[in-house]
Amino acid sequence: MRWFLLFSSLFDVVSTVIPDGVTLLSLKKHWTFEPSFISSTWTPSPSTPCSWAGVRCNNALQVNYLNLTDFGIVGQLGPEIGNCTWLESLDLNSNNLIGQIPYTLKNLRNLKFLSLSHNQFSGEIPYSLTQITPLYLVDLSHNKLSGSIPSSVGNMSELMMLYL
Ligand SMILES: *[C@@H]1O[C@H](CO)[C@@H](O)[C@H](O)[C@H]1NC(C)=O
Ligand SMILES: *[C@@H]1O[C@H](CO)[C@@H](O)[C@H](O)[C@H]1NC(C)=O
Ligand SMILES: *[C@@H]1O[C@H](CO)[C@@H](O)[C@H](O)[C@H]1NC(C)=O
Repeated sequence: MRWFLLFSSLFDVVSTVIPDGVTLLSLKKHWTFEPSFISSTWTPSPSTPCSWAGVRCNNALQVNYLNLTDFGIVGQLGPEIGNCTWLESLDLNSNNLIGQIPYTLKNLRNLKFLSLSHNQFSGEIPYSLTQITPLYLVDLSHNKLSGSIPSSVGNMSELMMLYL
């Protein structure tokens, strides 16, 4: 009986990770390497991700800042990033991220700062990126992007710095 209670309370911890934490854990599945301080802190317990390496939250415990600069991460940026809707700052520069920039970034309606520089992103700059109106800094430099610059970039009214 005691064992059962212990088990069920552990289960509660696992099942009550707040949604942004679930999103971050799903991003990790797209990586083939991450440093040990991510493996050791990005875990279902504690149930809020606010103390995880590279993560900060607003007062409502929603993830609004993710900074994984120079963490040596290898892999892809999963489309699940678009579920982290409270993000205001996303800094992933200087890792080994490959593949396309996910089009789901457009769901980050509060994003002001985006740096994906010094990675191996390929393919085109997603048009949808230009629909994130609060963005004031976009740094996509030092990648393997190709194609044209979306003309809708001219509609980004807050944009002050664009590095390609
Ligand atoms: C992310 O962290 C790096 C290294 O600590 C720092 O230089 C950079 O300014 C941070 N980015 C943001 C957006 O705070
Ligand atoms: C997160 O995003 C993915 C891909 O964009 C989607 O399929 C999934 O349903 C989302 N998960 C949650 C919990 O919202
Ligand atoms: C820019 O915004 C205007 C007004 O919303 C719209 O009519 C136009 O099509 C947009 N331009 C591009 C290139 O998306």
